[in-house]
Amino acid sequence: MASQKPLTGKVALVTGASRGLGAGIALALGDAGADVAVTDLLVEGAQEDPLSLVSYSILAAHFARSGGVHTLEVCKKIEEMGVQSRACKMDVTCPDEICQVVADIEAQWGGIDILVNNAGVMDNFALLEKQNPDMWERDLKVNLSGAFNCIRAVWPGMKKKKWGRIVNISSFVAQTGALAQPGYGASKAGLLGLSRSLALEGARHNITVNAVLPGFIDTEAVRLQDRKTMERITDRIAMKRLGQVGEVAAAVVFLAGPEASYITGAALPVAGGADLFVF
Ligand SMILES: NC(=O)c1ccc[n+]([C@@H]2O[C@H](COP(=O)([O-])OP(=O)(O)OC[C@H]3O[C@@H](n4cnc5c(N)ncnc54)[C@H](O)[C@@H]3O)[C@@H](O)[C@H]2O)c1
Repeated sequence: MASQKPLTGKVALVTGASRGLGAGIALALGDAGADVAVTDLLVEGAQEDPLSLVSYSILAAHFARSGGVHTLEVCKKIEEMGVQSRACKMDVTCPDEICQVVADIEAQWGGIDILVNNAGVMDNFALLEKQNPDMWERDLKVNLSGAFNCIRAVWPGMKKKKWGRIVNISSFVAQTGALAQPGYGASKAGLLGLSRSLALEGARHNITVNAVLPGFIDTEAVRLQDRKTMERITDRIAMKRLGQVGEVAAAVVFLAGPEASYITGAALPVAGGADLFVF
């Protein structure tokens, strides 16, 4: 029978955990018994001027401006569960910042066992001829290279422990494509190649690397869509509803836990059939 707290004694780091899926995943890992580093580009009170975020990401600027940053709050909720947590400002595009955070966690908690690469940008919408090359580069830099940077930072510690779990949050669009989001679609498909390649390398060190492919999940960012778009989206999902954050978080906890010890290189859709042909 599965243990109630399967991740007791493990240390997890989640990227992009100030809201949405990242926050939900961090809370679920804490609830499963792990100590959790809650990291994000944005931390309450510490972020740059929201206006300076506009050129980086419209979504980041929106949430910084509207009080939608909850990194410290998520950390506090996890501590209330009786495990350790700390909130860290960490930009996944900045290897020096990542190395500093990882070194601090390793010194404090004795190494990272579970890494969830959740940080992502999904606000670059334009057909090809209107795509801005800088935004294409940004999509790849955050969504794909960001995961690469974080894995590189935790890998030596996992190798030393001969134990590691890496979960990359891709998207169902890695398999279907994403109209008017070529950078997003390419970066999320790239995460599958990265996961499988590192699964091969990690196997000899008992490090598993898997990808979760969420469908349309009911997060603050998705809720910004207008009602008509939401209706069109829901109609196109086989299960005729959005997914809940907890439904994705449960898949991540499973892949991070002892029962998934022989699963690596997998791409697990949690999409309610959004990836299927709906007729
Ligand atoms: N919500 C969905 O329907 C859905 C579907 C498929 C995949 N996903 C993926 O799940 C992840 C989370 O989605 P969400 O809906 O919660 O999105 P979101 O935009 O609400 O959250 C993304 C988080 O990443 C952080 N972030 C952005 N750039 C960063 C950087 N450079 N360094 C560190 N943190 C950074 C943001 O501050 C934010 O907290 C994303 O990778 C997204 O692509 C979401």
